[in-house]
Amino acid sequence: MTARTIRRLTDAEVHGRRVLVRVDFNVPLDEHGHVADATRILAALPTITALADRGAKVVLLSHFGRPKGQPNDKYSLKPVAERLKIALAPRPVSFIESTVGSDAVAATNALAAGSVLLLENTRFHAGEESNDDAFAQQLGELGDVFVNDAFGAAHRAHASTAGVTKYVRPAVAGLLMERELAFLGDALEAPDHPFVAVLGGSKISGKIDVIEALLPKVDRLLIGGAMACTFFRAMGLETGASLVEEDRVEMARDLLERSGNKLRLPTDAMVASNMKDVSRAHVVAREAIIASEAMFDIGPESIRQFAVEVERAKTVLWNGPMGVFEQPPFDKGTRAIADAMAHATDRGAITIVGGGDSAAAIAEAGLESRLTHISTGGGASLEFLEGKVLPGVAALDQE
Ligand code: 3PG
Repeated sequence: MTARTIRRLTDAEVHGRRVLVRVDFNVPLDEHGHVADATRILAALPTITALADRGAKVVLLSHFGRPKGQPNDKYSLKPVAERLKIALAPRPVSFIESTVGSDAVAATNALAAGSVLLLENTRFHAGEESNDDAFAQQLGELGDVFVNDAFGAAHRAHASTAGVTKYVRPAVAGLLMERELAFLGDALEAPDHPFVAVLGGSKISGKIDVIEALLPKVDRLLIGGAMACTFFRAMGLETGASLVEEDRVEMARDLLERSGNKLRLPTDAMVASNMKDVSRAHVVAREAIIASEAMFDIGPESIRQFAVEVERAKTVLWNGPMGVFEQPPFDKGTRAIADAMAHATDRGAITIVGGGDSAAAIAEAGLESRLTHISTGGGASLEFLEGKVLPGVAALDQE
């Protein structure tokens, strides 16, 4: 099941029909209740405009936050609708405070060809997350064609991502979904070598399946972030107050033994007594971390080594920050990887960022346009890289 075998937008007859599009509009709001980061909304625009241009009546469905199956104003998609109106202007966009039922169905039937309707949060109904068949059937009454463009939610087997396809066919992939599967899929199946993966973040436990899946495919696996400290412990090094997952030390030792030369860890670290003690942050060799200090970023020597690997790669895949990048000076490692990836792209490499914190770091550094692909999925891209079948993808029509 790859981007090549799933039916796509161009395979569906949409003119004058109600096209139910599952998008992932799960975006952050600011303190005023406005959309703080519209990346996911903007990423869905190619699908929405392509459908509207082809005379479809576009009906959008999304989850938003985790309201636990109950209506809750805090999780209304209303602010998202406001942002969507701006993004699609002058195209007409409407919003109603229902997800399913007679009002919602009537609103879909009243749509003019080429216009767009956003329905309320799917998670206001308990049947969404339980993938309840009756709720999926109600969702099915909202469209004549189903398009899944919500890559970020494709790892959830919910009524609006999976169950609904029992009631609306054809069920095809949107343009964003197709792009995500193509870039992430090609990186796994047919990468240009050297293929370098950079993994970071705090915990090895959340990334172990990705490490296992990537090891046979990559030429180098660079590991930064606090996750590296669990490996340091496995090497018998003092890790001081650094975050170490004691119950994963054995696993890290086993990985080190099996990975040979492929797996590279930082050789130095930016340490401090605590995250807030920035004035006394300093660099030490990884063998010299003392009991009262903790690693909060990779050090300059590691940055140089990692950057060389990234810049000479033909394919680079990055997931997870190298340090506490929200807190300077512990942002240097993460920023350096972002820069190295931009340089690698300039030299013709395919550079892919697997969503979440690393995507946020790229945005903060203003480097979005200099990478080949930045995934809109956090959990979804991790599960895809682990080699898991994503239920939202499996539910779509295959060729
Ligand atoms: C995400 O933000 O990663 C997706 O929208 C999925 O959200 P969830 O983790 O609440 O299912």
